[in-house]
Order: sequence, then C-alpha cells, then structure tokens
Amino acid sequence: MPSLIDCPSDRPLTVVQLSDSHLFAEADGCLLGMDTAHSLAKVVDKVQAEQAQIDLLLGTGDLAQDASMAAYQRFAELTAPLKAPQRWLAGNHDEVAPMQQLCAADQRLVAVTDLGAWRVILLDTSVEGSVPGYLRDDQLQLLDNALASAGARHCLVVCHHHPVSVGCQWLEPIGIKNAQALLSRLDAAPQVKCLLWGHIHQEFDQLRGHYRLLATPSTCVQFAPGSEDFQVDTQPPGYRWLRLLPDGGLETGVSRVTGIDFVVDYSVKGY
Ligand SMILES: [Fe+2]
Ligand SMILES: [Fe+2]
Repeated sequence: MPSLIDCPSDRPLTVVQLSDSHLFAEADGCLLGMDTAHSLAKVVDKVQAEQAQIDLLLGTGDLAQDASMAAYQRFAELTAPLKAPQRWLAGNHDEVAPMQQLCAADQRLVAVTDLGAWRVILLDTSVEGSVPGYLRDDQLQLLDNALASAGARHCLVVCHHHPVSVGCQWLEPIGIKNAQALLSRLDAAPQVKCLLWGHIHQEFDQLRGHYRLLATPSTCVQFAPGSEDFQVDTQPPGYRWLRLLPDGGLETGVSRVTGIDFVVDYSVKGY
C-alpha cells in the first residue's frame, strides 16, 4: 500500500533532494578532509533560506559513511528544521538494518508515496558489502506494481546508483549492474516523468525519451565531472530542488552553499 502525503493535486509540489551526506557516529567525522555534519548543516541552512514550503524531503542514500545508528539519528536531527515529511533509501555505504530500526514507527522508509498528482517510487539498489548497485527481483516487482497501480498519477522514480554512463570512467563499473531491467520498464511507462539518483556526487541532467534523468551533488565532497580516475572537485556542497507540476511537467535546479571555505583533501585518490 502506498503512503499518502495530503497535498492538493492542482498546485506544484516542492521536493528537496539531499544526497550522500556520508555522516559518522562522531559529530566531527570527516570524509576526504571535509566535516560532513558541518557541510550538511550548511546545506540545510541554504534549503531553509530558499524553499518556503517543502512537500517531500528525499534522502537518496549514503546518508551515513559508517552505517551507524548515531549517523542516521544525526541526519534526522540536522534535517529536522526543514519540517517536511521525509523518505530515505539506502546507498552502498548504508546498512538497511539500523535504518529500519530507527524508522520502525514511521514512514521514512516506505517505498511508494502518493502526493497530489504524483507518485514517488523509491527503489533500493544497495547490495550489502558491494559498491555497485543491483535491482533485486523484489525491487523490480515493486516497480512493476507501483507503475501498474499509479492510475492518472505522474511518477518520479528514485534510487541511489546511476543507471546510465555519466561521463566519468572510474564510475562506469559502480552503477546499477542490471540497469537495463530498470530502463526498459521506464521506457515503456509514459507516466514516468523522471528518474533521480545520487551516488555520483555531481550534477547530471539528460533527457531519455519521455523522461528526465537527474543526479545531484553531495551535501559534502564533490566528484569531478568528466574525470577518468577518481578525482575530487572544487565545487561546494549542494542540493536539488524539484517542482512537480500538476500536468506532469517538472522544473528543477541545483543550489550550492556559497561564501564558506570548506576544507577538502584533494590528494586522496579514493574514498
Ligand atoms: Fe556517496
Ligand atoms: Fe554511493
């Protein structure tokens, strides 16, 4: 059964995507030299300054770097000022068990959510102990069912890993291994307007037939577009906003924190 967020179907919906926060149990944990709790807090400040009302907040994986309960609690605490219903999915650095434990009494991990004229479908591409993603049969079944029962709703499909080449050689082997199973389903489903993900720590925006392919910067360290080998980028942390229109149209953009010098260790050649 899909969860329901009560929104009128005749006004644009605002969705905010926070991705790849890579938080630690320790309050001052750093990824590649950057304090990830500090950078997430600054991105949340930016969201608060720019988005008057948020209908849905998406946490699209790698919420934690160390998969600790304390890191997931930290994500919840740092994003609480945004006062929006949240949906989370797991990335390669996450573990589903602590997320489920923390969210047992609420709907943050519910896969299908209806709001206004839209249906949001979250797919788990994470594989325990593996960096690349894979869509298990239960996830493909979930997608089939959610698309078949969407009725007149427009669909936004969300996952962690990339399903297409994004132009970085080193990222090629760590996307969704069976991406074609996902793409062929979306290609055949005109109600799908967008596929959205994280994982690549950079902006991506492409049209594939009738739907948009979008990826989003991390709320901490960025990876350089077009890089052959692992390369950290100088761009600051950011987030993506989406306006889901009643007629199935979509407006979107990426916004980054300005005016703060974040510490990054550019010498590290992997993460
Ligand atoms: Fe990540
Ligand atoms: Fe990832």
